[in-house]
Amino acid sequence: MAQNGIIENGQPDGGIPKVPQPVKSLEVRHTKEDVDMAVEAAKAAGQRGSPWRKMDVSSRGRLLNKLADLVERDWALLATMESIDTGKPFLHSFFIDLDGSIKTLRYYAGWTDKIHGKTMPVDENFMCFTKHEPVGVCGAIIPWNFPLLMFIWKIAPALCCGNTMVIKPAEQTPLTALHMGALVKEAGFPPGVVNILPGFGPTAGAAIASHMDIDKVAFTGSTDVGKLIKEAAARSNLKRVTLELGGKNPCVVFADADLQLAVEEVQQGAFFNQGQCCTAASRVFVEEQIYEEFVQCSIDNAKKMVAGDPLDPRTSHGPQIDQTQFDKIMELIQSGKREGAKLECGGSAIEGGGLYIQPTVFSGVKDHMRIAKEEIFGPVQCIMKFKSQEEVIKRANSTEYGLAAAVFTRNMDRALSVSAALQSGTVWVNCYNALHAQSPFGGYKMSGNGRELGEYALAEYSEVKAVTIKLTEKL
Ligand code: NAI
Ligand code: MG
Repeated sequence: MAQNGIIENGQPDGGIPKVPQPVKSLEVRHTKEDVDMAVEAAKAAGQRGSPWRKMDVSSRGRLLNKLADLVERDWALLATMESIDTGKPFLHSFFIDLDGSIKTLRYYAGWTDKIHGKTMPVDENFMCFTKHEPVGVCGAIIPWNFPLLMFIWKIAPALCCGNTMVIKPAEQTPLTALHMGALVKEAGFPPGVVNILPGFGPTAGAAIASHMDIDKVAFTGSTDVGKLIKEAAARSNLKRVTLELGGKNPCVVFADADLQLAVEEVQQGAFFNQGQCCTAASRVFVEEQIYEEFVQCSIDNAKKMVAGDPLDPRTSHGPQIDQTQFDKIMELIQSGKREGAKLECGGSAIEGGGLYIQPTVFSGVKDHMRIAKEEIFGPVQCIMKFKSQEEVIKRANSTEYGLAAAVFTRNMDRALSVSAALQSGTVWVNCYNALHAQSPFGGYKMSGNGRELGEYALAEYSEVKAVTIKLTEKL
């Protein structure tokens, strides 16, 4: 461990906190000076000739697999920490966040020795080939909605490509990142390769974005902060930037869809993680013939959600992350009522303390309303009616965002043509939130730049070097 509590591949005492404590009790708030120290450590660890750079690329894969083994060993502990820290239902942490994290680590563990350059045929006087090299020190700024999963989405491809890292978890949710520090150390990654600094955005986060010796930054969070990060990168060293930002994701449900399936998938899209998802299914367009039935089934379904203690396995609905988010959501719900949307169910805080909001369904939502335009990031479903395919495509695309979209229909021709027309980084057909480590994730328009996951993420974490050799002996 370095001074000032920076975690270099480990915990201060090398141990696991027995009882995870809420963030307020963690007096770990790193600043610019701490970021400088972490960057120095990461830079040294990634230098040519360092153990990390000299390592056989297959051994890198073994380390990532070892890390996956350790996450698997601590599966229940990490899921418990995540639920205590975020309020998300334990079964969701256990089966979704942890499962996705382990699969992502294993997926990239398999790539380390398969990252090939090419040989380019040029004129006969030259031989030309490419090498894919690490970018260098990669910064990562993580949000609070999927703290562990987003941490893994960033470290797995970055380490796979041989980079070193400086990572800042969100100030609300540092616990799983800190435990990952202990696991990185236990797995045997060389010191300095992974540096974890819990801290606040405007201090530690901004220092990462503007650091002259950080070569790339990956960010998931709000569109406003995404803009600040790109600006800071431009003003400092023009570091590479990948951004995963907001969404106002359209779901288009045609009359020929399997209605029950569509109701369930769209609603888990709206309410999963208390609606705190960049992919939240927040604009639901339903064809007029099935509109009334769809609304009724959605109300019936929403009422079945069970709010409660996040650690109780019966709970399907937890609290919002903090008071700021709670207030933002309640204000948007009020605006929906004021602007004339029909509140079908929910709409209030759940009594009994805590930051719980009732799963809320609005029907009769119009495109101009704030709830149809702004990212709510809460358990609020907005249902709208449409008449024709042409009309719905136009309406679905009329947003500054383009992260995810969904189409529900039994007609595969229609599914394909609507998928082609939607301006969105992901289109789900007859499903929602179906994410896989193998498949790229990212946004069009103001939902971000670049792609995480899949083979596509490797390019975000590699520099391409072209080597051209002049041949003196003619064939
Ligand atoms: P945020 O964008 O402020 O926070 C995300 C991360 O960025 C945190 O680690 C934070 O410390 C860091 N950060 C904040 N200011 C920074 C700065 N100036 N420089 C560098 N890093 C900085 O998001 P916030 O305020 O927690 O939530 C606001 C809204 O953002 C939410 O209501 C939601 O609409 C959206 N959001 C979207 C997420 C997504 O998954 N795309 C995740 C979290 C929030
Ligand atoms: Mg913020």
